[in-house]
Formats: sequence, structure tokens, C-alpha cells
Amino acid sequence: MAIAQDKDIIGSVISDEESPSFEIFRFKAKHDKHVAPGTLVAVAVSENSFLVARVSASHEYNPHESSSKVTVRDALDISPDYPGEEISLTIHRLYEAEIIDEVRKGSNGILETIPPQSLVKSSSEVFVPPLEVINAVIGLEVDPHKSLDIGNLAITLAEERDIPVRLKREIIQRHVFIGGTTGSGKSYAARVLAEEIHKHKIPVIFFDTQFEFVPIAQQLGGVVLEPGKGYQVKLSSLTPDEMTELLPTLRNALHVDILTNAFLRLKEKNIPFTNQEFLSQIDDVSQEMGQSPAQQETTRKIVHSRAEYHLKQYDFLGNDFDWISVIKPSSVINIDCKGVNRQRLQLILAATLRELQTLRKENKIEPYVIFIDEAHLFVPQDEESACKQIIREGVRTGRHFGIVFVLITQSPLDIDKKAIRQCNTRFLFAIEPDQLQAIQGVKADATQEMIDKLPKAPVGTCIVSGTYETIKHAIPVRIRKMETPEADAGKAPDIFAKVGG
Ligand SMILES: Nc1ncnc2c1ncn2[C@@H]1O[C@H](COP(=O)(O)OP(=O)(O)OP(=O)(O)O)[C@@H](O)[C@H]1O
Ligand SMILES: [Mg+2]
Repeated sequence: MAIAQDKDIIGSVISDEESPSFEIFRFKAKHDKHVAPGTLVAVAVSENSFLVARVSASHEYNPHESSSKVTVRDALDISPDYPGEEISLTIHRLYEAEIIDEVRKGSNGILETIPPQSLVKSSSEVFVPPLEVINAVIGLEVDPHKSLDIGNLAITLAEERDIPVRLKREIIQRHVFIGGTTGSGKSYAARVLAEEIHKHKIPVIFFDTQFEFVPIAQQLGGVVLEPGKGYQVKLSSLTPDEMTELLPTLRNALHVDILTNAFLRLKEKNIPFTNQEFLSQIDDVSQEMGQSPAQQETTRKIVHSRAEYHLKQYDFLGNDFDWISVIKPSSVINIDCKGVNRQRLQLILAATLRELQTLRKENKIEPYVIFIDEAHLFVPQDEESACKQIIREGVRTGRHFGIVFVLITQSPLDIDKKAIRQCNTRFLFAIEPDQLQAIQGVKADATQEMIDKLPKAPVGTCIVSGTYETIKHAIPVRIRKMETPEADAGKAPDIFAKVGG
């Protein structure tokens, strides 16, 4: 198959005890061709088919640098004097590649990917496959109008060329997970993803705890909502437990009973209720639950006044928010929660997600994508949280309703593994060694070498992995620059300039 041009040929398959086999082959690289772990290479196995493999290990063979030769040189104080790799008869580099797919070209010219079944022949030329093959093997989109253009493949070849990574836009329906250490480029990648999703007119919502997405929301013509200042969630969107948690001075069993009863009675009606309606319901229930009329009145007063007092403190609770007129095609919404404490953040997010989910299920709002940064705070691994259930449910069933989650965390160890496993596209950035084990379940077929290389890669480099429906094989990606660079809110301030230093 005349699929490889001379310039694409990077080496030839060698024979040793392990290579070639059905799983791997090793190849000697041409002196001017260097490849990084993760690079995709190919070898023809017949006129119409070839195997695609991923570089997994490398080794340089140089007998002039054996420890005995170096010792002799050091003792005699002489410099090395031997020809370089380009003309050497001994020095060479070997790469090992793991076979991942067999690709056949049908008579109609269409490429078909099948499980690998042919054996590579020693001496076969190894080449960098053309873009169409890479797209087919990884499951990328060819049509730029139907794709999410997130950057380029992060592989270094002698002749550097940019291979665009265009994800199929449908991948978002199976949710996205972005993980990596602080400063590795997660929020930046999330903004690039948001720019792309926005091009396809899907409404984007940022639940923003650090003021990281306000600028991009503004750049994309969106709105910024502040809890307590124009944005409120409904009391009726909370669960009875969440509601009682908000009223810390009502802990007596009778008081809790009254609150829970009043709350559940209103909830049973299945229509939203206001703080005022809840207080009236408390009055009614108190009158049924005390022993004597006098006691009933005393209890009513205590419960009513304390509930009223506490509810007033929560400025984020109140009116029905008009999502229907805010969520339209191409809308961008930032819920700016900077400075809000953790308990309130959880309640605001839980209530927001419930309200949005109900509206979406009733088809009253468009499908939407919600970005949740610091997601380990909201779906923690070993503790309960107000939003854990709703996020778990959202990632499990969201794709049937057009509800998409993008969960971002610097702490994969602390986030609920069930939730991240449901996120079928993953952007894995450099990660702290103690967090490595947490991503085992989501790294797909990314090799250990690819993951080990991430901390040394430039900021903004990640491994994109997935499942058969999203990304068939894990690939290293250099996330592209934002189209709205002014909205890079993650840039650390120059602290020295600030103090005049
Ligand atoms: N793909 C990229 N291209 C160019 N610059 C980038 C890229 N990714 C990240 N950066 C730079 O690195 C900075 C830090 O990235 P970012 O804010 O995304 O880190 P983070 O992983 O979200 O960190 P944290 O966990 O602390 O929030 C960005 O503000 C940006 O200046
Ligand atoms: Mg960030």
C-alpha cells in the first residue's frame, strides 16, 4: 500500500527473542528520527493492511560508552573520539512499539479498524501513519464542523508536524473528567473545551468557585450570576436533611419532627414553595404535634421564629430563578461563587443541579454542559455531600436527557471513583506520585511511560483517554491556545511587581 512516503519512514523492524510478536515489535530508528513515548507508528503487513502500534519504550545502544570503555578514557584522560550515530556502524536506537490495531483499506478506499491479527515481518519499514489513519485508529472526527478542536498530538518527530486532535463532538454526551496537579493546565483546557462547545451552540454553565471562568463567560457574551445577588435557589430544591442542617438551633427531636413534616408535606405537592409558605406550614404542623394547646403555641413560636431567623441568613435561598429565559442556544452562564463557604457551595450546587435537571427532563430548557471545578469538594470519595447523589445520578443517566458534566479536580484521589468512571473522556495532566493510583481506572490504554512523561512535558500537555465510543486509544495532546487569551484567569499574578520588588 503506497501509504508511506519516504519522509515518513522512521526505521525498520528488527528480530530478537521477543520481536516481532503479535503484541509488540522493536525497530531500529533512522539516525535522524526521534520519537516520543505514545507516538503512533505503522508497519504494512500486506498490500491492503497494516498494523498501527504505539511507541512504549526506547533504548540507545552505544558500545563506546560501556562502563569499561568510559573507565579507560577517564583513566587516560582522553576525550571520546568515535563517529556519531549518523555514520556509526554500531551506535543506534531501538524503540519498542505495542501493537494496538490493524487497519485495512477496503476496495472503496474506506479504512476499517480491526483487532490486530497479522504478524509483522522483520525488516519491514516503520512509518508515521497519515492523518486519516491516526483519525480512524483513535476515533477522531475528520469534519472540522462536527468536532471539538482541542489541540495537537503531543509527539515529537524529527520533522515536527502538527497533527490536529479533533474530538467527535458527541463525546461530551458521555461526560468529561479533567484531572491533574495544580498549575498543570486543567482550567485552561476546560476553557478551550468550553470555547469549542460554544461553537456548537450548546449552552455552557460554569459553577465557578475561584473566579476562574468569569472572564471567559464574559468574552463569550455570557452572564455572571452571583448567589444572593440576583441568583437564588429554592428552599424546595433541598432535601429534608439539608434543610434541617441550615437550622442549627432547632435540634430538639420535636422541633426536627415539625420541620421535617412541614417540609415533606410541601414537597409532596410537587410544586416549588417559598420560605414564607414553609413558615406557614410550620405553624400548621406545630398545632398538630404538641401535647396541649399552650404547649403547641409555645413550640410553634420557637420553631417559627428560629426557622425564620436562620432562613433570612441564607441570601442564596429564595425565589424561583428564571432558567427558561436564560438557557438558550449559545448561552454561557457563570455562577460566580467566589468566597462562598463549603457548606453553602454544596447546597447551592445541589439545588441548582436539581432545578436544572427537572427543567431539562421536562424539556423546558435546552441541553446543557455544566463545568464543575474543584469537583472533589462536591463528589468526595469517602464522605457524603449534598451534591454527591445528584452528580452521580447526572453522570449515570445524563446522556439520555442532554445533561453533560465536566468534572475537574487536582485531587483525583479524593473524588468519587464511580463518578469519574462514568466520565468517558478524560484529560489527564501531570499528577503527583501519590495520586497516580487514583487514575488507574481511567487511564485506559495509556502506558506507564506516557504517564511518567507528563510532569516533564510543557504545561498544557495531557493524555486524552476514553472508551471505545469516545477515544479508542489514549493519546498525548498539547492543548491549543485559547481563542480568547484575555480570559486566561488562571495566570498567577506577578507578586514581586505588586510589592514593587
Ligand atoms: N494549553 C495551554 N497553553 C498556554 N498556556 C497554558 C496552557 N495551559 C495552561 N497554561 C498556562 O498555565 C496557567 C495555569 O493553568 P491552569 O490555571 O489551567 O492550571 P490548573 O491545572 O487549573 O491549576 P489549579 O489546580 O491550581 O487550578 C494558565 O493560566 C496559563 O497561563
Ligand atoms: Mg484551575
